[in-house]
Amino acid sequence: MPLVELHKEPDGSDNKAAFAKDVNEGLSKKAKSLSSRYFYDSRGSQLFQDIMALPEYYLTRCEFEVLTDQKEAIATHVGAEGFFHLIDLGAGDALKTKILLRELSEQQRSFDYVPVDISGHAMQQLTQRLRQELPQVQVQAVVGEYFKALEWLQENKSERKVVLFLGSNIGNFNPDESLAFLKVIRSYLGSGDKLLMGMDLRKEPKTILRAYDDASGVTAAFNLNLLRRINEELGGNFDLQQFSHYASYDPQAGAMRSYLLSRRKQEVHIEALNKKFTFGAWEAIHTENSHKYSLEQARELGQATNFSIESVFLDKNEYFADILFAVD
Ligand code: AVI
Repeated sequence: MPLVELHKEPDGSDNKAAFAKDVNEGLSKKAKSLSSRYFYDSRGSQLFQDIMALPEYYLTRCEFEVLTDQKEAIATHVGAEGFFHLIDLGAGDALKTKILLRELSEQQRSFDYVPVDISGHAMQQLTQRLRQELPQVQVQAVVGEYFKALEWLQENKSERKVVLFLGSNIGNFNPDESLAFLKVIRSYLGSGDKLLMGMDLRKEPKTILRAYDDASGVTAAFNLNLLRRINEELGGNFDLQQFSHYASYDPQAGAMRSYLLSRRKQEVHIEALNKKFTFGAWEAIHTENSHKYSLEQARELGQATNFSIESVFLDKNEYFADILFAVD
């Protein structure tokens, strides 16, 4: 059973209704917003791949450096206590995780690999690729949302768990959401289990700002894709030329915030909602937060959610950390 699919409507109708509801709620508010969760249709996922290859987007390169340079130590920490399930939340193409998979195999650690992703297509491709590239690794891909997958694992697998949450995805949650998220993860883990989490660290604001406002405009296209998606899936008539990407960094909150700005007063009709929305000139739609952490904040987050920090793995610039949280 290489692929487990959890709760999916075959026609995608549940997803579309939830998307429509969220868009309606977000655009009806005084301070308009759209959730960054909706960035990732197939075009958005491709644009995010392009972002990760940008010279300005240091996050991916730094995490590669951490995993490449410290793979031995990481594999030794996570693999030391006998068989475990390596659960990769939001695995995608698992490019970074493969560094660890190779190292764990070389160290002859006893584990199986459970990539979890909402995209069935991505999980099918990954399973096939791993069969060719790392045939010695047992793979059991799960298609579904993180918590549903953890629930499934709880019911179906009783061995030790090592959860990976790489790539600074935690940063897209607000502080209270990340606390709630880690509490739920922790509730599925027991003594000896671990969580390896990627966290982008606080640094010179200009470096952060450049990563979210790149010179070639890929991040702008990624942000604007949200409006294109509303047009395509919900029958909206957003004119993409009339909106622009705007990114700003708040160094006190450690929050990178992205917006779409309406370049003029305009009305947009969304067929699926049978409703018109009015935008004032330079009115903003908030679309994403990307939080940056200090190591102290990471420690506090761990403490508040009943994890202890076992080890911190940093790149040489100390831009990014992969933090190994343990359950005592
Ligand atoms: C997926 N996530 C961690 C990215 C980030 O850095 O917040 C998404 C992203 N948004 C703009 N660029 C990248």
